[in-house]
Amino acid sequence: MPATVLVGAQWGDEGKGRVADWLARESDATARYAGGDNAGHTVTVGEHKFKLHLIPSGIIHPSMQCILGNGMVINPIRLVSELDMLAEQGIDISPRRIHVSARAHIITPGHLELDGAEERARGGESIGTTRRGIGPAYRDKAARTGLLAGEMIDPEAFADRVRAAVQQASRLLVDYYGLDAAPTEGLAEQYCGAARRLAPYVTDTVALLHKMLEAGQRVLCEGAQGTLLDLDHGHYPYVTSSSATVGGALTGLGFGPRYVDRVVGVAKAYCTRVGNGPFPTELNDEVGERLRRAGSEYGTTTGRPRRCGWLDAIVLHYAVRVNGLTELVLTKLDVLSGLDELNIATAYDVDGKQTTAMPVDTSVVRRARPICETLPGWQADISGARRLQDLPENTRRYIARVQAISGVPITMISVGPERDQAIRT
Ligand code: IMP
Repeated sequence: MPATVLVGAQWGDEGKGRVADWLARESDATARYAGGDNAGHTVTVGEHKFKLHLIPSGIIHPSMQCILGNGMVINPIRLVSELDMLAEQGIDISPRRIHVSARAHIITPGHLELDGAEERARGGESIGTTRRGIGPAYRDKAARTGLLAGEMIDPEAFADRVRAAVQQASRLLVDYYGLDAAPTEGLAEQYCGAARRLAPYVTDTVALLHKMLEAGQRVLCEGAQGTLLDLDHGHYPYVTSSSATVGGALTGLGFGPRYVDRVVGVAKAYCTRVGNGPFPTELNDEVGERLRRAGSEYGTTTGRPRRCGWLDAIVLHYAVRVNGLTELVLTKLDVLSGLDELNIATAYDVDGKQTTAMPVDTSVVRRARPICETLPGWQADISGARRLQDLPENTRRYIARVQAISGVPITMISVGPERDQAIRT
């Protein structure tokens, strides 16, 4: 059973890129199953920092096959620049190793304009999207009016379809939102050029994946965003528009659960989120500011400062259940060094009642006050630790508590951004 699914156990930005980079060493292929260039995965290799938004992190491994699955929404212009960026850094970007599903959906400039217009119209109730056109593109997919990546094999016809889609979006922009129409000048040439460039990568990735899986090759299914941003299981409507949980890997790549033998959840040693929506353990004080500074908590895609808070056991436990996690990776533990005390929320107080379950209603989560367990912190710099024994006693106590709360083994802990700054347990 050769597939591993990697999911975010919180609100995204858990450090899945570097975990994917680690798991890729034992894999033959890495496949992205959901989302688009709203994701930002950073992998640091020596002096090189790779900021990836669409192409799976496995690309850095020379023999790896990389798949952009049917569950994704792809902005062709951004994909071309990402390929160019990788080529400039000496990475092999040949279509022999990068495969784009013919059934992935295309993000057009109309989607980008609509994302912005909708966010502005929501005003104080805005979701805080990345403005990459994700929601409008998935809406067209569900409405059966979307453009497929497979259409890029006829670049001229594809460019005409993009122009028509932008004109359609402009009707909404002008008539409903009272805004200017999206510009179409030069659009056909630009998208025709992008399609010519990308057509060699477009293929039937479902057939390709089945061939690999049936041959016993290991596939790493790389998730984007996180459990609390999942369209079905997150804090709706403050979510992304795709399935960021384990089920998304199966529909977003096209194979059944019998192939999956590992579901790896990634959680930060504390919590962060970008965008709006409830965040019970958020710290709007100097501890939150310190976590932001020490953890460089600024969005890879938008540069927005991330909201920071204590680890939330209700969130972790929920992620374990919704995804059927078989193990957990704890990232950025080094960021907690230097704090006298650490808190973990183990229950919520909702209108005077205590609960340890994730409330189904987002407005209830908004009212939830965290009830925290306090653990002693540690002062030592742990970024040089490579074994559990190298860590201070209080650090080991914190890890043990997180493991007990989540109920699944912690198999890796990161203590810094470099590839080797990790502890395998
Ligand atoms: P969208 O995916 O751009 O529509 O944004 C919807 C919500 O998901 C917003 O709160 C975003 O900040 C959040 N989001 C989307 N992608 C990511 C990600 O990769 N990391 C963290 N948050 C994300």
